[in-house]
Formats: sequence, C-alpha cells, structure tokens
Amino acid sequence: MLSQKVVTNVSKGSMIRAMFEEGAKLKKIHGADKVYDFSIGNPDVEPPKEVIEAFKKYIQEPDIHKYMSNAGFDDVRARIAGKIQEETGISIGHNNIVMTCGAAGGLNVVFKTILNPDEEVIVFAPFFVEYLTYIDNFGGKPVVVQSDTNNFEPKAEELKKFITPKTKAIIINSPNNPTGVIYKEETLKEIAKVLEEKEQEYNTTIFVLSDEPYNKLVYDVVKLPSVLKIFKNAIIINSYSKSLALPGERIGYIAANPAIQDIEMLMNGLIYCNRVLGFVNAPSLIQKVVASSVDAVVDPDIYKQRRDLLYNHLTKLGFSCVKPEGAFYLFPKSPIPDDVEFKNIALKYNILLVPGSGFGGPGYFRLAYCVSLKTIENSLPAWEALAKEMKLI
Ligand SMILES: Cc1ncc(COP(=O)(O)O)c(C=O)c1O
Repeated sequence: MLSQKVVTNVSKGSMIRAMFEEGAKLKKIHGADKVYDFSIGNPDVEPPKEVIEAFKKYIQEPDIHKYMSNAGFDDVRARIAGKIQEETGISIGHNNIVMTCGAAGGLNVVFKTILNPDEEVIVFAPFFVEYLTYIDNFGGKPVVVQSDTNNFEPKAEELKKFITPKTKAIIINSPNNPTGVIYKEETLKEIAKVLEEKEQEYNTTIFVLSDEPYNKLVYDVVKLPSVLKIFKNAIIINSYSKSLALPGERIGYIAANPAIQDIEMLMNGLIYCNRVLGFVNAPSLIQKVVASSVDAVVDPDIYKQRRDLLYNHLTKLGFSCVKPEGAFYLFPKSPIPDDVEFKNIALKYNILLVPGSGFGGPGYFRLAYCVSLKTIENSLPAWEALAKEMKLI
C-alpha cells in the first residue's frame, strides 16, 4: 500500500531516536538527574538575548507574515551576503543566497537541483547519517570514503580513488558531526587539487557542498578556512540551528560561489527547487530575526567547558578519542569492537550514547555534550564504573 522504501526505512528506525526513547523510559524509572543522555544534538542552551528581542520586534511589523520571493527577503539575503563577504573577503551578493528551512532543507534543495539519476555524491565516513537519505531522495548514489582514523580528516589520495565521471558532488562537514573535528586548510587545498585534476580528466563539474551548521561553534581555532576561497564550485549550506540554538525554527541558507560556471542557472534552479519541494520560502519572521542578529552567536565557551570536562575525564579513564575542536560531539573508540554491544553495556550505568555504526563509523561511539555541565559532572562516576567494567582502569 505504501512506498516500499519508506516502509523499509521506517522499520529500520533510527539509532538516535531509539536512544531518545530509551532515555525517556530510564528517566521515568531513575529520575532525570540520574540519567546521562548524550544521544541527541539538540542544544540545551537558550538563543542569545538579541535574538529573542528581535522576535518581539519583528512579529509586529507590517507585511512580515506574507509570501515573499521563493529565495527569501532581499534585505535578509543582502545582510547575510554582507556578513560572508566581511568574513571571507569574497565578493558575494544577495543573488547568490537562498534562505532555506535549516540545513536539512538546504541540502535537499541542493540535491534536487544538481542530481540526475545515478549520479554520485561522495560522503566522508563517519558522517551525518541523513546525507544518505537526502541523496537517495533524488535518485543519487552516496559513495562512502573513509576518513583518516588518526585525525578524522578526509584523505585526498583516498578520495581520488573514488571519483568517477558520475561524481557530481562531495560533502564536507567541518566542524564535523559526529567527530567534532575541524578540517585543516592544507587538507582542503589537497582535496581541491584532486578535484581539479579529476574535473579536467573527465570534463565534469564536481560541486563541493560545505555543510556548515557548526561553523560558529569553534574552540581552539581562531578562524575556519573559507571554502569559497579554496573551491571554485563551493556551495555552502548553513543553518542557525546550532549557532543561535534555534533548531525548531527551521532557518538556514544556501550560499553559492559567484565563480561557479552558469551560476545564474544554478541560483534559479535552487530557488525553483525551494518552491517545488513545498518549502515555498523559508519562514518569514525568523528570516528577519537572523538577519538582524548576524553577529550574534551562542557563546562557544559554554560548550568548550563541557568538552574539556568530558574529554579530559574520558581520556584519563583510558578511552581513546581524537580531541574535537568544534561542534558539540565526541567520537571515542569503543573499548570493544561491537559498538552496539558497548551501547548496551553503557546503558546499565544510565549512560546513553549512539553507536558509531549509526554514522558509518563502527567501532566508535558518539557523545553529544549539548547537555548541562551538571549532567556531565553527575555522569563522571558512571563513566568510571563503566571504564572499570571494560577493564580500561
Ligand atoms: C552535520 C549536520 N548537517 C545538517 C543538520 C541539519 O540541521 P538543521 O537543523 O539546520 O536542518 C545537522 C543537524 O544535526 C547536522 O548535524
């Protein structure tokens, strides 16, 4: 009666969702303060004050709640383009921006715009698992390339082996979900070189889709390298879900490099797809709010403090983990090869985590530390007991 693919995917379920339900059950039994739920990337902090003030201001403005261009308000797009220009030095105008329903909406719009059936999109593992479904939504084929497990950065030489005449795009996600790693400028430049070589060899265009919802949640690096400077065919997909702690508001944008050949056709395609996917336009009120708050950001030090506490504790206990420099995730190695079994063992200590297999990274586990510092503090003895059971200490 229903789509076979949907029925199959629904029955497979989502590991993260399963943990969420498990967490709710445990909280009822033990009390919320005795359950340490690191399963979901839902920011626990509130949006910055100026964002809340902007909501109050704009909600009363005339004409704000009407339809507008499918690309979004021109003044909002201009403000965001101006901010990108200020940060990167790249000259970009409102014509190169489309406002979207978060990064999830943006990614779907981009895939619909660029993909023909069976064209390939390269995804570096471990990855945000929804990439696979979004690519499949438009008949594309995800091609998974393993990152370097020493630092979770992509390896240009490895990438080279997987590029074919059907490669339409690669996805870059830095700071990364699930590893929290930031890709170095040299790594991105090496990738750019490989892409240029392969584009020439096959006479193709390979888009670099830079999924950047965590680009403001950066701790130890002063400035992220700009993909617009490194990749001619860069398309940024960004979102305010994490940087302004607004995931429920569904707001983000696509920014395409003006240097892309046939940029006008690309932009028209993106705007058309935003419409025909049924988004029509990004929500109007929140467009105005984010444009008036382009300099606002949730204080990254809040997350840095949590990262330090959890990372230092876990590594002291003998867990092995690449130190994340951004986002709000840790991706330690599971002490046993079977990460699903490890998830079950951790549950005995009321620790909820997601097996790395859920991100194409078996043998690891993901912790989302967008939970209160108190929760992390309360969890420390449970981690110690777990480390003892795993014979790490
Ligand atoms: C890497 C990555 N991309 C995209 C998204 C989607 O975010 P949004 O809420 O902006 O749709 C998420 C959400 O967790 C994410 O982690």
